Amino acid sequence: MKVGVGIGEKGGIGKTTISTHLAMWLASAGQSALVVDADPQGHATRAMRLPKQAGLYNLLIRADEEDGQWKKVLRQVAPEVYGGGGNLYCVPSNVETRGIPLMMADVWMLDTRLRQLAQVIHQVVIDTPPTPSLLHSAILMAADWVIYLTELEYNSLDSLMETMKHVKEANGRRSHAGGQMIRELGILPMMYRAGTRNHADNLTALEDQFGDLVWAPINLSTDWPSAAQVQEPIWTYAPSSQAAKDWAGFVERFEAEMEMAR
Ligand SMILES: Nc1ncnc2c1ncn2[C@@H]1O[C@H](COP(=O)(O)OP(=O)(O)OP(=O)(O)O)[C@@H](O)[C@H]1O
Ligand SMILES: [Mg+2]
Repeated sequence: MKVGVGIGEKGGIGKTTISTHLAMWLASAGQSALVVDADPQGHATRAMRLPKQAGLYNLLIRADEEDGQWKKVLRQVAPEVYGGGGNLYCVPSNVETRGIPLMMADVWMLDTRLRQLAQVIHQVVIDTPPTPSLLHSAILMAADWVIYLTELEYNSLDSLMETMKHVKEANGRRSHAGGQMIRELGILPMMYRAGTRNHADNLTALEDQFGDLVWAPINLSTDWPSAAQVQEPIWTYAPSSQAAKDWAGFVERFEAEMEMAR
């Protein structure tokens, strides 16, 4: 089982879009995938066409019955949502998720819980909220890989540096506990406006600093919110669009990186 996170400590940069698409894509490719909604907004839950529920809160905080808890919180996603193939599950979220950092005594709890599913789930994708908290620390204790998401604006790049710092701190903590380092798969520039000087310059600056770690950008396109509105993946909603091409580029790179990690 591999656990991954699309992370970026800034609102509205496409974290939910990328994490839900990745989980749907993995499931449609025949894998058994799980999307963990760790955002009180419950947007990933909605994208899975499920009702918002205190799934993550119950899993981490009301986890008194050892084995029964997973059965209570794990929801199967209807095959129509992602096109079928493998299996897709979701740990839903609602506003109660906001209380997790206050109640959580053990930063390793999410990791412990997820590893209990190692026999049934191949890939876990966690959708993170924009504001860092103790929940982020727990997510980073559970993650095998991260992809940094960033826009190409001045403040986004500043947030990226902050996020990288937090991953480094998490790695320090993991190494202290004898764990493996989180793999930084890449930096994904989001909502790229091709043909604008500012974005082109910032992309070049990012590439100068991080080289091959920077993935091909996902272009700004209204096809993304339109697909989200009808709760469909981009590859069925607008298969010949630039957005779908960008997505194909993303999964090609993702597969290459995961292959390298074996
Ligand atoms: N490449 C894109 N171009 C244009 N719009 C996009 C793109 N990617 C995502 N969007 C849209 O931008 C909005 C925000 O995206 P999303 O919800 O994925 O961001 P987020 O980072 O998860 O936000 P939050 O921080 O609130 O959780 C959504 O309406 C989504 O459909
Ligand atoms: Mg989101």
